[in-house]
Amino acid sequence: MRFASKLPEVGTTIFTVMSRRAAEENALNIGQGFPDYAIDPRLSNSLIEALSEGRNQYAPMEGTLELREQISNKLNACYLRRFDPITEITVTCGATESLYDAIQAAVGPGDEAIIFDPAYDAYEPAIRLAGARCVRIALMPPAFRFDWDEVRRALSDRTRLIIINSPQNPSCSAATREDLDRLADCIRNRPITVIADEVYEHVLFDGRRHQSVLAHPELRERSYAVFSFGKTLHATGWRVGYCVAPPDMTGELRKVHQFNTFSIASPLQHAIARYLSAYPDAWQGLSTFFEAKRDLLAGLLRGSGLEPLAASGTYFQLVDYGAISQEDDLAFADRLIREAKIAAIPLSPFYAKPPHMTLVRLCIAKRDETLREAARRLSAFATALRPAS
Ligand SMILES: Cc1ncc(COP(=O)(O)O)c(C=O)c1O
Repeated sequence: MRFASKLPEVGTTIFTVMSRRAAEENALNIGQGFPDYAIDPRLSNSLIEALSEGRNQYAPMEGTLELREQISNKLNACYLRRFDPITEITVTCGATESLYDAIQAAVGPGDEAIIFDPAYDAYEPAIRLAGARCVRIALMPPAFRFDWDEVRRALSDRTRLIIINSPQNPSCSAATREDLDRLADCIRNRPITVIADEVYEHVLFDGRRHQSVLAHPELRERSYAVFSFGKTLHATGWRVGYCVAPPDMTGELRKVHQFNTFSIASPLQHAIARYLSAYPDAWQGLSTFFEAKRDLLAGLLRGSGLEPLAASGTYFQLVDYGAISQEDDLAFADRLIREAKIAAIPLSPFYAKPPHMTLVRLCIAKRDETLREAARRLSAFATALRPAS
């Protein structure tokens, strides 16, 4: 029997490909987005306590009440509104599961979903598995701004979903309040749901404030807002995220979640709840923490021939290699691994139709020594390639 693929074009993600190549070439991996430093020891202790109390059996399907209450408090502190832990908050396996469940709840065969390129790679396969079609709108470098007139033109009678991601991975751009107002204008009186991927809600630079759909009265009525403790607590391997949505939409999301992962690791939920209850401000200061890392890496690279682009948020930094090479980004990234011993992430895999770009993405969620070593290798590589002036 020939087994027919439901996702014939989907291969291994660019993150896995580059991480595997990094291991093969013994390169420093500052491509994939994960911290190389320890989590807060108080969070580790909370986990040890949860285990020693025997919190080892199934957690409730929607998440432990203690954790959902802590999430509700945190949302109140951030977005000045109380979300009901019982009916509006669901704990999932990372943000990835929230995205998958929300997409399955929102679209079906014949529907269209609009996403913005460069798009995080989890969106399109989930949309296609739901039987819907993806309409991709390209945000163009270097600023990657939304063009809401283009969005309006892309709407059809079949459009049921728009996914926005702000701060945006991999472009490092961030939506403004005006963007959210324009989005609300576009979908007013249309049967369109929004999924707002806000996993980098706490990583905004230069005094910017995160514009959440949850703080937008019109959008929050029709949005699934998706968050990740992986990012907020520097613990990507814990795979704990959550989704916030009005009660009817949450009910539909839970129908998918219930038969997908059912519930999330019980000790981890207890540990996070305990930690947030003891240190409710633990997430504050993340922007300052990452801004210092962005400034360190960008400062070391500036003038090297690998020019850092302005970054509004996320834990990434784009660099433009146009001054030293016009190779396509996949070839350039492979060359970086082989010759500079640095793994970075090219941007073209995040586009349906990549524009000509000479950009790669570096992750700043690394120890300062790692960033310094990465900058040293990258600068030496760039100097060797730079045309003599
Ligand atoms: C934009 C974006 N959305 C979602 C995710 C997935 O988050 P999680 O690791 O919590 O599943 C990531 C992870 O890198 C991301 O960058």
